[in-house]
Amino acid sequence: MGENKEIRNHYNEILVELSNKQTALNLIFKVFNDGVGFRYQYDVANADSIFITDELTAFNITPQAKSWSIPASFETYELLYRTMDLDSLDNANTPITLKTEDGTYLSIHEAALTDFPEMTIKHNGNRSLKSHLAHWPDGIKAKLANKFQTPWRTIQIGDKAVDLINSGLILNLNEPSKIANTSWIKPMKYIGVWWGMHVGTETWVMDERHGATTANAIKYIDFAAAHNIEGVLFEGWNEGWENWGGSQKFDYTKPYADFDIEYITKYAKEKEIEIIGHHETGGFITNYEDQLEKSFMWYKELGIHSVKTGYAGAFKAGHSHHGQYGVRHYRKVVEDAAKFEITINAHEPIKPTGIRRTYPNMMTREGTRGMEWNAWSEGNPADHYLLLPFTRILAGPMDYTPGTFDVTLEKSKNSPNRRKWNDNDKGNSRVNTTLTKQIAMWVILYSPLQMASDMIENYEGHPAFQFFVDFDADSDWSKAIAGEIGEYIAVVRKADDKFFLGAATNAEARTLDINLDFLEDGKTYEATIYADGDDADWVTNPTSYKIEKKQVTSKDTHSIVMATSGGQAIVFEAVK
Ligand code: NOJ
Ligand code: CA
Repeated sequence: MGENKEIRNHYNEILVELSNKQTALNLIFKVFNDGVGFRYQYDVANADSIFITDELTAFNITPQAKSWSIPASFETYELLYRTMDLDSLDNANTPITLKTEDGTYLSIHEAALTDFPEMTIKHNGNRSLKSHLAHWPDGIKAKLANKFQTPWRTIQIGDKAVDLINSGLILNLNEPSKIANTSWIKPMKYIGVWWGMHVGTETWVMDERHGATTANAIKYIDFAAAHNIEGVLFEGWNEGWENWGGSQKFDYTKPYADFDIEYITKYAKEKEIEIIGHHETGGFITNYEDQLEKSFMWYKELGIHSVKTGYAGAFKAGHSHHGQYGVRHYRKVVEDAAKFEITINAHEPIKPTGIRRTYPNMMTREGTRGMEWNAWSEGNPADHYLLLPFTRILAGPMDYTPGTFDVTLEKSKNSPNRRKWNDNDKGNSRVNTTLTKQIAMWVILYSPLQMASDMIENYEGHPAFQFFVDFDADSDWSKAIAGEIGEYIAVVRKADDKFFLGAATNAEARTLDINLDFLEDGKTYEATIYADGDDADWVTNPTSYKIEKKQVTSKDTHSIVMATSGGQAIVFEAVK
């Protein structure tokens, strides 16, 4: 769904049966052309329940290797990537990506994380990477019945960096869909009342700068309808934001008085626009679970089929986001949402492990330093965008929410409404790319819910926004065709008869010669090219761009010329 219509599931399997007097242990290995997965199945006949206190799995890497990872944390993935020699690595979250000195690319992760804590990696020296599980407040890692199985421990393997991206291993190690009728699950492009809050010109709370007002909602719905965009998100629409970051207790069925949700949903329906609901929990899980069914049912009655969730804040009673308690909660939300035909986009989530195959309503999630960091911190560095596809996104789709056109935030900074609201804001925030690289990210950073995250006034009348108008979040086929980790990438996606190409580079200006042999033979395509301007430079001239058209066939090559932290995006449409 969204990325590839078909994925080959082709492997050899071995089951090793081990037992002693009390315990039967099955060790299952599945070996694919693109990697390996293994898991443990336990049956402890005479026990009522099992407490797991440690996992001893170790990944022993023989050759020297370079590694790309974020530090291990049981609370957050919103961290910067480190490029390190494996020997100096201390710990990491997964996916951790490696390149050995003999040129093999590896990525260690897990698949089908179900009723178990997340696995992180602890380097025990000698290139031995041991599993280190998140735990309950009392230190126990997992609390289980006497029969259980672990998630798969996975190693993706490739000769080229892009092989990791083109691998289907994680999905292949998950169960087929448990949702029989999936016709209500649809990839979409969306916009939303969102960036204004992050850049500080609007608020989530109902004051004179409130973003989610009825008037604003109508403007966003009209803009979406006029620009071939399927969905609109509203944050700060419900009561409880006054205490966000403190003792917040959100109410998920009480809109603010200036957000007429019945009128808005009716208006959206007439315009054939999907409203994306929002449930920020602030980490107050029991408050959310108490209202879960009721709020999903209410949304369904209003015609809302898609919900963004949020967990910005510590869980209560010492629970961690990524422990078994958290894993259970995130899964419960997905399962309950499915009962009401609602799709989920989780922020501050548990990391993806391919469960979208089993629950295709689990559309996308954050779990990364996303766009928001560019609004109120020193921002994500130029190479962040070239690390994500080879690390975080190997695990599954990501709601990064690219597409800032006001890259220096000049318009927001000049607004009299702007207030600093986040302690990370040192006054130097901006998006550290060119405008064209932001466009390319719509193709590169895969998400079946793909957001154009800037405020609509920054898109209105902008010629380069045509790319998003033409873009399709629902592709039939995808392939990363060139790339090196942290340096550059080029990705192609096909949707119906169109092809979309996105390419990007780190802080180095770069030219990539790309073979267009992914196009269908015998057809001529018109390529509409959104390129960095000749004088573009991400520091001094980030918004310089040009749009060019040319006719091409599958026999041609194309030179992608990119500025520093630049990019290129192309739409190919068959003309004959
Ligand atoms: C953090 C999320 O990542 C962001 O998208 C959202 O706007 C805020 N929390 C508020 O819910
Ligand atoms: Ca976040």
